Amino acid sequence: MIEISDLTVRFGGVTPIDGVSLRFPGGTCGLIGPNGAGKTTLFNVLSGFVSPTSGSVRAFGDDLLAMPHYRRARWGLRRTFQTEQAIEALSVFDNVAMVHEHTGGRRSRRRREVLDAIGLVGLEVDPGELVGTLGARERRLVEIARAVVGEPRVVLLDEPAAGLPEEETEHLGRMIRRIPGERGALVVLVDHDMSLVSACCEITAVLDFGHLIASGPTPEVLRDERVRRAYLGTEEEL
Ligand SMILES: Nc1ncnc2c1ncn2[C@@H]1O[C@H](COP(=O)(O)OP(=O)(O)OP(=O)(O)O)[C@@H](O)[C@H]1O
Ligand SMILES: [Mg+2]
Repeated sequence: MIEISDLTVRFGGVTPIDGVSLRFPGGTCGLIGPNGAGKTTLFNVLSGFVSPTSGSVRAFGDDLLAMPHYRRARWGLRRTFQTEQAIEALSVFDNVAMVHEHTGGRRSRRRREVLDAIGLVGLEVDPGELVGTLGARERRLVEIARAVVGEPRVVLLDEPAAGLPEEETEHLGRMIRRIPGERGALVVLVDHDMSLVSACCEITAVLDFGHLIASGPTPEVLRDERVRRAYLGTEEEL
């Protein structure tokens, strides 16, 4: 479980997170909101790239904000980014192995756990293939394999379906739903594709310009009048 209490982030005159209290109980939880709502900033706080002005974050009882970001990675905090992080000139295997090493995974288990992560995300390519030669779908799966290798406890996925065609998004959704059961990790999914969020997340929270405007069972949240209003004037469809 992740418990966020009274969290505020300020960048100069901007307050992208403004007094947010929120709980992600487990499984796969959704985090949605229009562009600029503060979703990535919240991920940046959880992963240690941004220090909040005030507030606390506890994950499975541990005080995340008290740990420097490299300790959080070893603790089991993983994430993907809106831009791809994998190195094109390295193989799929080496890209995933690199995270296994950085997060303190044992060398003796590396080969098995890397291949296991590649299998979990359903990447059906030769692990020796260079990432630069892969298509968009496979590259996206490499990003997720990097986030689930070893022993993750919290996996933050930042718009994993962005730009993918519908049928590939469905495949991605089926895979994301398996992560909590197969890895024992809590997954937080940020995406603008509401069919993906509905398919993966029992619980969803909604941010709107730094404020939490709804949180609860996904179908109820997506029917909420405030949530619909927050999305009005954007291209997103609920
Ligand atoms: N390092 C920074 N310095 C200043 N302002 C920032 C910084 N990072 C984010 N912001 C601002 O904080 C607000 C929230 O941005 P954030 O990236 O968290 O939104 P988001 O919900 O992830 O949006 P999107 O759906 O477009 O990815 C925006 O107004 C953004 O411009
Ligand atoms: Mg974002």
